Order: sequence, then structure tokens, then C-alpha cells
Amino acid sequence: MSLHIERTDILIIGTGLAAVATALHLAKSFSVLLVSKGEMTESNSDLAQGGIASAYLEKSSTAHKEDTMLASKNTSCAERVDILVEEGRQAIEEMERFGVRFDREEGGYALGREGAHRLNRIFHVGGDETGRHVMRQLRQSLPDNVNVLERVLVHDLITRDGKVVGAMAFRDEVPIRIEAGAVVLATGGIGGLIDWTSNARTVTGDGLVLANRCGAKLTHLQRIQFHPTLLATDEPHLVTEALRGAGATLVDEEGNHVMAHHPLGSLAPRDDVARILTERMGTVYLDTTNVTRLRERFPKLALTCDKLRIDPRRIPVRPGLHFHMGGIEVDDMGRTDVDGLYAVGEVADAGIHGMNRLASNSLLECWVFGKRVARAVRLNQTTTATKETLVYDISPVAFQALRAQIGRWLTISPSLDELKGFLQNTQTLTMTKHVTRQLSEQTLQLDAARLLAQSILEMERNDEYDIPTRTATSVLD
Ligand code: SIN
Repeated sequence: MSLHIERTDILIIGTGLAAVATALHLAKSFSVLLVSKGEMTESNSDLAQGGIASAYLEKSSTAHKEDTMLASKNTSCAERVDILVEEGRQAIEEMERFGVRFDREEGGYALGREGAHRLNRIFHVGGDETGRHVMRQLRQSLPDNVNVLERVLVHDLITRDGKVVGAMAFRDEVPIRIEAGAVVLATGGIGGLIDWTSNARTVTGDGLVLANRCGAKLTHLQRIQFHPTLLATDEPHLVTEALRGAGATLVDEEGNHVMAHHPLGSLAPRDDVARILTERMGTVYLDTTNVTRLRERFPKLALTCDKLRIDPRRIPVRPGLHFHMGGIEVDDMGRTDVDGLYAVGEVADAGIHGMNRLASNSLLECWVFGKRVARAVRLNQTTTATKETLVYDISPVAFQALRAQIGRWLTISPSLDELKGFLQNTQTLTMTKHVTRQLSEQTLQLDAARLLAQSILEMERNDEYDIPTRTATSVLD
């Protein structure tokens, strides 16, 4: 099949909020191409429920900073958090200028609250459908210099003289080369590598692999966040933490409050709650009898409960994979250490979230750092250079078996035997240069999982794994 060529000044890989915020703030003189692996709405941003944390209505951003630092057990970088919370104060107004309308109630904005926030500072749209509304409005606001191509799988980046100058991809099954003066990775996290996740299925760590192959530094890949409350049914659905902010509590079969021992109760930091729920025997429920106007405030949840015939006053939950704090190391403008390569949003490690992200700080990060990347981008000379890629020669059945194995170690308490087995099984796979879209997609997923596995193993060797539990007590004392 002949190679199609696309040319653009700036290629942005991803169509979630990090990608769209960057595109909205780039100079209109640039041609910009956004590509999504599936449909453009298949992003984690579109699925976001709780909302966007911002100290917009507070006297200063100090309390937001403190909550962010505490939730991370002081492992976030204080200077980067300053940027997030201070520049984040304008985010609400800025998004409203693009036509987003955050929910209001009598007297002003209707603010929600989530785990480890001491104040109500979460702005939302359409109750628990924030992501869908925000993304629809912002995508509609994209200017004419921005084009969006769907169903594009980028499987490798092209470099020349150590600079990133484009990408090799498939549009559907057709191979394309995208020549670009700069590439922005906004591919999201890793949740889609397994089934038990709150993430979109398309979000499978591609950006980590692309960055790693061209020599960009990755950091803290072992820092993975599990959300305490996915609906405990066959299909995972996120049950937003904002429900607990509105008064729901985590109870056992007998109705006992399972977080009663914690000073913040059911609103304790997410990692603490997820770990406690994982270690417990028996089903845990969200008791929502104290939540007023549940159907109006949480329409998505109410609809899901109706469909699955679950009583919304007592919702069975269990933890699942949610967010990746580690990622591609970036400076405070989203620059990686490879010329021409930028990263923003969940795929990047900007040092903000440390080992446990504060709820609803992620959309804020996408906005604040998307704007920063837009200011920082410089174009390299484009080239007609191309790149030969090798992929794993593996059948779909063998791939599914390996994917199932990932699901057995990519958990809150990873089985090291499964993890080592996965590394061994993938190490011996043969490679082929007969690159197809399917083989490329499988290869990216296996390589992303290998990167995570190696990082978790490394952490185990250094005995770091216990740090969250060890430090939790001292911070809360
Ligand atoms: C939620 O709505 O519970 C998730 C919010 C987040 O992960 O920031």
C-alpha cells in the first residue's frame, strides 16, 4: 500500500482536553493537526465526571496548593503546583469565554467537593457530565487553522539529527507519514491497557512508548492511581467522588461506615480509600441516602443505575485503575528533553501530582499546561525523512492472552510473579518489519506495559512500594 503524506506545522497526538487546550492557544499562523486513535470523543476528558478544581472564588490559591501537596504526601513539586493552582484560578473564566457554562445555583456557582479537598472548589457542567459538555464546547471553538483527523494510530515518531520532525501512522489501515515542525504528545494515561478501569479503551500508554523510542526521559512510571469507586458490576463505570462530597458514605453490608477511623472519613485521599477498600473482605457500598436531589445533580449515575437495575441509594463499588501520575518528564512549559517534542496532560509528568493526584486537578492541568505548551512550541525544519519500524509478530489470540496477564499485575497490589512472567513472555517475542495497524497497536500496548512493569519492578527492588502507606499516617497526624 502506498504511503500517504500529511504536512503540518504542529502535530498534536490526542483530542482530549490537553490537546484541545494547546490547539486553542497556539498562534493562528500555525497549521495544526490533531489526531485521535479512535473517534475524537474517545478520550478520558470526555468521560470526566467530577469536574475542574480551581481556587477561582478563593482569596488566594494557598489552600488549593496545600490540599494538592497533602494528597500527594508532599511528593509533588511545590513550584509546579504553584503554577497549577495560581494560573488555574483564571481557568474557569477563560473556559467560559470559549462558551463553557459551569453549573450555577442560587447565589453563584454550584461547587462540588471531592476527596482530600477541604473546600468546595470543583466546577462542573451538567452535574456529573462535565467532560462531555466541556469538550463538546471547546472542540466547537477550535479555529480554522486546526484540523482534526480521526482513527489515526501514530506508531512511531520520526527524528533527524536528534530532533522530532514528524510521525509514522495509519489512518484506518492506510500508512501515512506526517511531516511536522513539532509534535505534542497528549495521548492520556494507561487505563485502557486493562479491563478494570475508568478509562476510555483507546487510552493505552502510546505516548510513553513513542517518547521512549526517541530517547525522551520517562519518570515515576510506577505511580498509578486507583479510584476507590467503580461500579461493582460486570462493566466498570466510574462513580464520581463528588457523590461523597455531596454526602454519600462508604459502608459495609451492615451499614457500618468503613472510613469512620479517618479524619476525613469517606473523603480521605483517594489512594488511602482505594487501598483500604481493596484490603477489605466483602462488598462495599456507597450509601447515598444523605445526598439531596441525586437525580438532578448526578444524572449520568442515575441513568446508569436505572439501566443496570441498581438502587442508587446503595451502590456497590470497588476500586479500579484510574490515573497515571508518572509519565514523560517535562519542564514547566511542557518541553521534553528531545528537541521538537512536547508532552501535556496525563501522559506527561510535570511533577504536579506526586504519588497521588488530588481529585479534579487533572483537567486543570490540561488547561494550564496546554496554554503553556502553546507558548513554548518552536518549529524544526521539516523533512521528508521516514522511519522503518519493527513490530511484534504476534497473533490476536496470543496478544489477548498477554493483555489478560497485564490485568493480573496492573493492580493496586501487583503480583510480582505475574509481572515477571509478563516481562519474560514479551522478551522472547519475534519482531517483523511487515508493519500493519493491528500489529502496531498491539506492539504499542505491550511496550507500554513493559515500561510500567520494569518501573514497578525497579521500585520493588528499592523497597519504595510501601511509601504511600508509610507516610500516610505521619501526614495526617
Ligand atoms: C471523579 O469524578 O471521581 C474523578 C475525578 C478525578 O479523577 O479527578
